[in-house]
Amino acid sequence: MSDTVNRQILLVEKPTGKLGPEHFKLSKAGIPEPNDGEVLLKVRYISLDAANRAWMHGATYRAAVEANTVMAGGGWQDFAAVPAKHLSKMPKLEPMTHLLSVYGIAGLTAYFGLLDIGKPRDGETVVVSAAAGSVGSIVGQIAKIRGCHVVGIAGGKDKCDWLVNELGFDAAVDYKDGAVFKALRAAAPNGIDVYFDNVGGDILEACLAQMNNRGRIACCGAISQYDGVPSATGPRGVPGLIVVKRLVMQGFIVMDFMEQRDQALKDLQSWVASGKLKVQEDVIGGLENTPKALIGLLAGENRGKRMVKV
Ligand SMILES: NC(=O)c1ccc[n+]([C@@H]2O[C@H](COP(=O)([O-])OP(=O)(O)OC[C@H]3O[C@@H](n4cnc5c(N)ncnc54)[C@H](OP(=O)(O)O)[C@@H]3O)[C@@H](O)[C@H]2O)c1
Repeated sequence: MSDTVNRQILLVEKPTGKLGPEHFKLSKAGIPEPNDGEVLLKVRYISLDAANRAWMHGATYRAAVEANTVMAGGGWQDFAAVPAKHLSKMPKLEPMTHLLSVYGIAGLTAYFGLLDIGKPRDGETVVVSAAAGSVGSIVGQIAKIRGCHVVGIAGGKDKCDWLVNELGFDAAVDYKDGAVFKALRAAAPNGIDVYFDNVGGDILEACLAQMNNRGRIACCGAISQYDGVPSATGPRGVPGLIVVKRLVMQGFIVMDFMEQRDQALKDLQSWVASGKLKVQEDVIGGLENTPKALIGLLAGENRGKRMVKV
């Protein structure tokens, strides 16, 4: 990278089907001049998130990303001029990448979504989907720390073995192997008390049917609906099963909990230090590889938190 050129990845066209490399273009611009009140940043790591794809569908909790603009998600470029008021000083810690994984959005989403929305109690059964991803892998480990029976749902035998053998989950279900409902019944024989939903769709439907009375569903995301045209029909069981089983199903956005961030970081740091919480990061090298890295994340290539080292 030269310090006179700002390489940028542009989203040249919003995808209508699956996201592909043809939707992006590497372009070059001058280094931006910060205006009054702005800070010039040199980008070192870019967080890749499933939500990057969801932003292409339209406005969500943030504005939609538009064609012919620098792709959002921390800004896919070497340099950025950013209003100082949008920045916050992070603690100095090593490795720095943990600020994007366990002490960043992924760790905080797992922490607040599980503990504040899911409210797991000792001995209860917690199920989490996209369990080998950045949020899911932390959810399952926190649920173990809280004394729960933990089941992860993930794609492929390798990921499932890793969840059980390395991260200490009690069981894992490979949703790509078919028969999710039956496998889930075997992995969670006492039913589900808390379901942390990262995916929506058919997996949400299978979990809904196996929820115990007064169970809680934390709606964190719907990755099965992001890449391509979302399915026309919702999961069966809404609202019938919610009524009959007296379920609480609640969505949340991690930003809602930022006032409680210090307590969360304290807990996460102590669990990491004691070895109870393992941090899995998946670092891809080179700004030019960012589109490929996001496409791969949507296809399930990653284990833990995927990011790009610029
Ligand atoms: N509410 C909030 O504030 C908040 C904040 C951050 C993230 N999120 C949500 O959290 C979820 C996880 O996001 P992340 O960025 O941490 O990604 P991630 O979990 O690191 O990676 C995504 C994983 O999803 C799985 N996946 C992809 N397509 C799937 C499908 N059709 N069905 C089931 N699983 C599928 C893939 O693993 P497999 O190999 O297992 O398929 C992939 O590795 C997303 O829904 C995201 O929107 C919400």
